[in-house]
Amino acid sequence: MSNIKKIGILTRDCAGVNAAIRAIVRTACAYDMETVGIMRGYEGLINNEIIPLSSRSVSGIINLGGTILKTSRSKTFCNSEGRAQAARNVKANGIDGLIVVGGNGSLTGANLLAVEHNIPVIGVPTTIDNDINGVDNAIGADTAINVAIDALDKIRDTAVSLERIFVVEVMGRNCGYIASKVALAGGCEEVLLPERDFNMDNLCEDIEKASKKGKVSWIIITAEGKAKALDIVQTIKEKTGFDIRAVVLGHIQRGGRPTAFDRVLAAYYGNFAVELFRKGEINKCMRLEKNNTMVSFPLEEAIKPKNIEVEKCYGLIKMLAG
Ligand code: F6P
Repeated sequence: MSNIKKIGILTRDCAGVNAAIRAIVRTACAYDMETVGIMRGYEGLINNEIIPLSSRSVSGIINLGGTILKTSRSKTFCNSEGRAQAARNVKANGIDGLIVVGGNGSLTGANLLAVEHNIPVIGVPTTIDNDINGVDNAIGADTAINVAIDALDKIRDTAVSLERIFVVEVMGRNCGYIASKVALAGGCEEVLLPERDFNMDNLCEDIEKASKKGKVSWIIITAEGKAKALDIVQTIKEKTGFDIRAVVLGHIQRGGRPTAFDRVLAAYYGNFAVELFRKGEINKCMRLEKNNTMVSFPLEEAIKPKNIEVEKCYGLIKMLAG
């Protein structure tokens, strides 16, 4: 059994994070463990912005987007003195272990605190990009796709009515998870992904050929890290002369009410994070497997690059595009 009695919770923002905070706090309460919230992510840890959390302080948050703990991108934490200060504050506040709810950057930070300063950590996979290695579903990804699909359906109304081409840019700097899923679920004609080569000339030829056969309404998805919607629109306009519009969905994808799927995931993950500390397991990440079975694995595995399968999805998008 573990000697972890006081847990610190540190978060990034996306839909489902508050549900995870609630699950962590309420599970800890059930075992008479203490929880504190670290405000503004690693920056707040360096600045010692730490607040007590109780069962009551997490009521009414399960349905809220963002994070009640707020967050930030900390440059100071990127250097070793910043991390040493963060570690000093963990110890000075009597925090026995940290649960970090976040994506690659946050989990990499957690791993550094574990490796450099011996701080027990647990990572809760949480990112709209769904690019945590070893994890099928990160909290927030389902909501992001649903938010994007909702927007896309509205764009389609105009695309079909005006028989127009739209290029829609979704989030994903190095990863085409959102783009590929949105393109498939949205019945889109084309998708540009960081994981795949892409030829603009071929796309323009396809558009022209299709137009001769009467197909004039297209929706093309691009992941922000692959190509910018405005640039693609410019190129297609120049090469084909078609009327075409760009839409950048941006941060609406990271906000909003979490879907039921993300809330359920947050409940399992948040609960399991505390259970791992109770069992004395530290420096772990987690995933949900068949039959609602939670599995832990080393955090250092989780922060390795994830190989996201896009070929099958891309093939399906093209076959069904019509
Ligand atoms: O990692 C999540 C994510 O939303 C990415 O999809 C996106 O590229 C990035 O964060 C945007 O970061 P910021 O909010 O700092 O602009």
